[in-house]
Amino acid sequence: MMVVHISSIDCIDLRSRILRPNQPIELCHFAEDHFESTFHLGIFKNGKIISNGTFMQNTNPHFTENKNVCRLRGMATDTQFQGQGLGRLILEKAEAILTEKNCEILWFNARESAFGFYEKCGYKKIGDMFDIAGVGPHKVMFKKLTHLI
Ligand SMILES: CC(C)(COP(=O)(O)OP(=O)(O)OC[C@H]1O[C@@H](n2cnc3c(N)ncnc32)[C@H](O)[C@@H]1OP(=O)(O)O)[C@@H](O)C(=O)NCCC(=O)NCCS
Repeated sequence: MMVVHISSIDCIDLRSRILRPNQPIELCHFAEDHFESTFHLGIFKNGKIISNGTFMQNTNPHFTENKNVCRLRGMATDTQFQGQGLGRLILEKAEAILTEKNCEILWFNARESAFGFYEKCGYKKIGDMFDIAGVGPHKVMFKKLTHLI
């Protein structure tokens, strides 16, 4: 399976069906889609995207000492392809790209049901649990990328 660069529009299908079902489609468009630093990675099968994630420079109060801090949003794998290593491939490719760009930290708001996935991919939790309306409990999770250089 090959991880490739895709557009923000390509990400809307999985964001809507997997991350925000029954929510207005407008919530699947992120302001961060238009940041200059933003890129989107995806995996195609038979012309359809079956896993994707969106990465951008974005600060977080936990990491004020770091200059180059990036965030993941919209990580999703189509239901029938979950557990086959695709999400891990997306994260590994993003980490390699971000490391090249001297990104020090990759962080995101992880939903509770996905903690295990991110932990298996080497991410750690930080801070308190918080609620995102309509989605549920989350924690910030992160990985230091500088050690990968
Ligand atoms: C969470 C998600 C993105 C993971 O993607 P995926 O393609 O299924 O993940 P992978 O197959 O690469 O999983 C890597 C490892 O994590 C494990 N894993 C995957 N999802 C997991 C979960 N929710 N809980 C615990 N472990 C999980 C896999 O079994 C695999 O383990 P292994 O290395 O021992 O084989 C995907 O399941 C998904 O889209 N879930 C619904 C939406 C969601 O919660 N997104 C995250 C929002 S923060």
